[in-house]
Amino acid sequence: MKYNVCGIVGLIGEQIRVSALVEALEKLEYRGYDSAGIAFLKDRKLNITKSKGKVENLKNQLQDRLNEVIETGIAHTRWATHGEPNDVNAHPHSDCFCKISVVHNGIIENFRSLKMRLQELGHNFLSQTDTEVIPHLIEEHYNGDLLEAVRKAVLKLEGSYAIAVVHADHPDIIVGARKGSPLIVGVNGSTKGLASDVTPLLKFTREVVFLQDGEIVELSRDTVKIIGFDGTIHERNSVHVDWSYEDAQKSGYKHFMLKEIFEEPSCIVSVLTGRIKNGSVVLEEFEPFEKTLIDSKSMKVIACGTSYHAALIFKYLLENKTNITVDVDVSSEFRYKRINLKPGSIVLAISQSGETADTLESVRLAKKHGAKIVAVTNVVGSTLTREADCVLYLNAGPEISVAATKSYVAQLVMLYLLMLRANEILNDSMEQNSELIDRLMRFPEIFENSLKFADKIHELARKYKDYKHFMYIGRAYGYPTALEGALKLKEISYIHATGYPAGELKHGPIAMLGPDFPVFAIAPNDSLFPKMKSNIIECRSRKARILAVTSDDNQEISELADDIITVNSSREELYPLLMAPVIQLFAYFVADELGFDPDKPRNLAKSVTVE
Ligand code: G6P
Repeated sequence: MKYNVCGIVGLIGEQIRVSALVEALEKLEYRGYDSAGIAFLKDRKLNITKSKGKVENLKNQLQDRLNEVIETGIAHTRWATHGEPNDVNAHPHSDCFCKISVVHNGIIENFRSLKMRLQELGHNFLSQTDTEVIPHLIEEHYNGDLLEAVRKAVLKLEGSYAIAVVHADHPDIIVGARKGSPLIVGVNGSTKGLASDVTPLLKFTREVVFLQDGEIVELSRDTVKIIGFDGTIHERNSVHVDWSYEDAQKSGYKHFMLKEIFEEPSCIVSVLTGRIKNGSVVLEEFEPFEKTLIDSKSMKVIACGTSYHAALIFKYLLENKTNITVDVDVSSEFRYKRINLKPGSIVLAISQSGETADTLESVRLAKKHGAKIVAVTNVVGSTLTREADCVLYLNAGPEISVAATKSYVAQLVMLYLLMLRANEILNDSMEQNSELIDRLMRFPEIFENSLKFADKIHELARKYKDYKHFMYIGRAYGYPTALEGALKLKEISYIHATGYPAGELKHGPIAMLGPDFPVFAIAPNDSLFPKMKSNIIECRSRKARILAVTSDDNQEISELADDIITVNSSREELYPLLMAPVIQLFAYFVADELGFDPDKPRNLAKSVTVE
């Protein structure tokens, strides 16, 4: 399972200049741009430069040294997960004597306990990052052999990581290790290297080894040695990559949107990482607000766009599963209404970017009325995180395509966790809870399987692409899914699409349906399927074509729909998550078939920082 959080790179060779590492970093900048940093060895001395913000800032700082030839070096571009994006938290991180330097992509789950132990042993920490425990652990185990010290250190780490390590006393090697995060090793040519994706290596070599989980690599100018965490030698064949640089950035996918949809299984892992312990949900950040939630039995939620649809699903979840009332507002509406919040009440602000102007303004207003802000966001250090009282991070990695896809899935998983936690503190339906937790834990694998149906969805997109209108319908959990499906289609394919609660069709929209106006029905085999069935029949009798997304235990739908996409059968509250990639892929393939660039839809921006 891959984590795409930060970009790391290390190079070793005869004529490497500082500029080569900076250029390599520029190729990785699309993975994160909170900070950039470099550590290189020259005359057996470790030089470290780090800078908040883009690689450009780092480059300016290094201006006088760019031409210097170095022995070896590592570099990092950060997508912050633990700790503010600032100079101190920027990678590389070092040991107490600044001899060992490490860059890391991933999350070390047990960093708190490791840090405490290392501090007791006298180690001195500077940053708030999880990463800093790694150089100190290596220092603790170092006995003249860097490879062995790294091996012993990684055995202590829990979580996911790809790391690259240099040591001032070993100017002739770089050591890398991987568990859960990608690490690719460029294995021939006069410059060798390792990186979190192949992009920065393409300039030097096209022969690469994709390191596997549980492997450590030691790279010198002439040799590549791979061992397992148990110390045994691993023989690995290299593969030839002929991707262009642009293709490599998208890991070979045609667009970022498609790549990001395919990253959803790993995003689910990222959100769940460290959040479930001994069968119960751990949301430490939220603990101070639990009592208020129990006492008030209510929560206000504000969000825009796709995040608003995630908020609506949360409303159904919490209201169906607990006795907490959830009131959801679009931020741009909330901020101009009379605000009716009790001091101390909880306002949940959901925003992928953490920068959406309407959501931020709503948060400020809610705070003025004494509310406590709980933020759900993907961007560490964003304005929302600075203004909120508590932040639940998604850790989904940068989302480059304008249309939200993997961040929506990550939001949903976080909101399921919040619902489960609320259930736990209210001590309600614990049995159901543990079943839901089990199912959520299996979701990464289930998603991997559903994504195998992309070709079928592509085929349907070709069939439906020329319609000018679409009606998306659903009931209960299926209703926000219908809204999100319609939003995805219209924002990237420019086809008119409306999302409606299926039961409301007869109050107006059904008047529009006909052979040229197909219906996309969100119709799993859940408790409301008999009602959905009647709605679908109503649509059919107006001669509308029916494209239904359903669950694989639904036998009846084949008589009702013209075309069917199936997902695994599940509990009804989990269908919004299961169906997310289906609605996203359908919109993506329609847009692509129509010749539009799904990554950059016209008139839209990824982060809407104006009202
Ligand atoms: C823009 C984006 C949408 C996003 C919405 C809310 O419109 O194009 O994809 O859902 O903003 O953004 P947020 O970052 O607050 O979730």
